[in-house]
Amino acid sequence: MAAVPEPAPFPSTRRSLAPNPAKSSIMSDDTPHGLSRGLTNYGDRDFARYLRLSMARAMGYSTDLLRKPVVGIASTYSEFNNCHRGVPELVTAVKRGVLAAGGLPLEFPTISLGEVFLNPTSLFFRNLMAMDTEEMIRGQPMDAVVLVGGCDKTVPAQLMGALSAGLPTVQVVTGPMMTSRWRGERLGACTDCRRFWAKYRAGEIDDATIEEVEGNLATTAGTCAVMGTASTMASLAEALGIILPGTAAIPAVHADRIRAAEASGAAALALARAGTTIRDIITPKSVENALRVLLAIGGSTNAIIHLTAIAGRAGIPVDLHRLNELSDTTPVLVDLKPTGPFYMEDLHAAGGIGAVLRELKPLLHLDCLTVSGETLGQRLEGGPGHVDHAVVRPLAEPLQPQGGLVALFGSLAPRGAILKRAAADPKLFETEARAVVFSSLEDLAARIDDPDLDVRPDDALVLQNAGPLSPSGMPEAGYLPIPQKLARAGVKDMLRISDARMSGTAYGTIVLHVTPDAASGGPLGLVRDGDRIRVSVRERRLDLMVEAAELERRRAETPPVTAQAKRGYASLYRREVLLADQGCDFDFLLENPQGAARGG
Ligand code: FES
Repeated sequence: MAAVPEPAPFPSTRRSLAPNPAKSSIMSDDTPHGLSRGLTNYGDRDFARYLRLSMARAMGYSTDLLRKPVVGIASTYSEFNNCHRGVPELVTAVKRGVLAAGGLPLEFPTISLGEVFLNPTSLFFRNLMAMDTEEMIRGQPMDAVVLVGGCDKTVPAQLMGALSAGLPTVQVVTGPMMTSRWRGERLGACTDCRRFWAKYRAGEIDDATIEEVEGNLATTAGTCAVMGTASTMASLAEALGIILPGTAAIPAVHADRIRAAEASGAAALALARAGTTIRDIITPKSVENALRVLLAIGGSTNAIIHLTAIAGRAGIPVDLHRLNELSDTTPVLVDLKPTGPFYMEDLHAAGGIGAVLRELKPLLHLDCLTVSGETLGQRLEGGPGHVDHAVVRPLAEPLQPQGGLVALFGSLAPRGAILKRAAADPKLFETEARAVVFSSLEDLAARIDDPDLDVRPDDALVLQNAGPLSPSGMPEAGYLPIPQKLARAGVKDMLRISDARMSGTAYGTIVLHVTPDAASGGPLGLVRDGDRIRVSVRERRLDLMVEAAELERRRAETPPVTAQAKRGYASLYRREVLLADQGCDFDFLLENPQGAARGG
């Protein structure tokens, strides 16, 4: 493993956090802190405190410790989450950091979301986890919280909940997996998963080989090894300033990952002492910094949804037109899979997100505060350390002059759609194509490999009813497979359009998040086989070339396919979920709920 790139990878106290007298802090005598916060309501505060402390004694803590400020640690360990296998070790390290800094660490469990273990999709449960996280932070007596998470939806859910709760907060991520070696080739989840699956579908490798590959794709603890959604969200967390500087890309199994967790415990206590909350860290400026980094790293399309939802918890709008403005002026600097040859462990060795931030410095808001107590500008004052410019390109020599993501608007997507142009084929950027339509995931599965399917390489595959309001709950199904007969003829990419999402580990000319989605009455649901669809990345357009009168006729004869749920969380989800351009959060969880504003 190469040397840690920055002189001090997580300088937690370079600028010590002075208490802010204007804010409630555990330094002020009149504010209840530690286990005296948020007393259970018995109608007698002194009794409630006495009862709480007597119960806490049952856990074997000393009187001295029980009087200390409390740092809660949200643990997401679960045996249904391979990416979080290292969480117990990280929680232990956070506790060590809190204790050494003079606080009482108290771990508590929340929901954990293992990407591939959830049905119908992990996004469906993200808001449930955010509610759990928010209410457990608010409902339990803690002065600060450390969030330990990693897999795709986990970090967004934790930050959404923590923003609504509003305490001093530090995020710790589990870190990425290491790659493995197989038959002389380097493999890492999960771009290579898709590459080999495509080979299998094309008949290039047999059953025995794909089974061997299956055993060599994910071989350590940690999140997917490429710039997928988990790695993107870790990178954005560093850009937001909510994890310690230099810690986003440290591999899950590296000792520095444990040291970062220890330093995070101390940092959380320092934030509590200073009265610095998550609302001081995640601001309109730091959200814009995160968007810049998202564009520069060619990050996951899912991150747009998650960042919109996170910012929405602080009442900060993320506008897709603004995304395009930023995209026009933010070059792509990082070349990890799925677009390039590198993995997250290479980014760490190359200088990490710190190296990316340093290159982007002229474009960033440098006065944003980070959880280390220093501003972003102060962080970037020091020397860059070692930077491998093969992995992190200089600003003057970017991989691409414009950002990795672009929003398209038009008659097919009145409220926008997203294209990851960094992972797409530029030959398809200005095109008009014939639509081949699949009305649902079931229809797609039933017909995509039908030898009689009327499909050509220059067609656009269209998937309907896979958006937030559909029965499938917006799965990562936007990476429609190339029809088998075309795959076997050597076709590697086609224009694909849907209201679904796409895994951050996937690639291709794929237009996603078409909003409004088909299930809420959007024009995507009115597309028919043979219609012409026009895409222009240059003009930021996505248009259905069908007369308005014809669309109205179709609308009258085809009611949207909406999912019904009589009870439980599914019922809440169906009633409250917002569309992709609003982050798919629940309306009532926004900083400023909008009432019934989600519709198409
Ligand atoms: Fe957890 Fe990929 S499955 S990050």
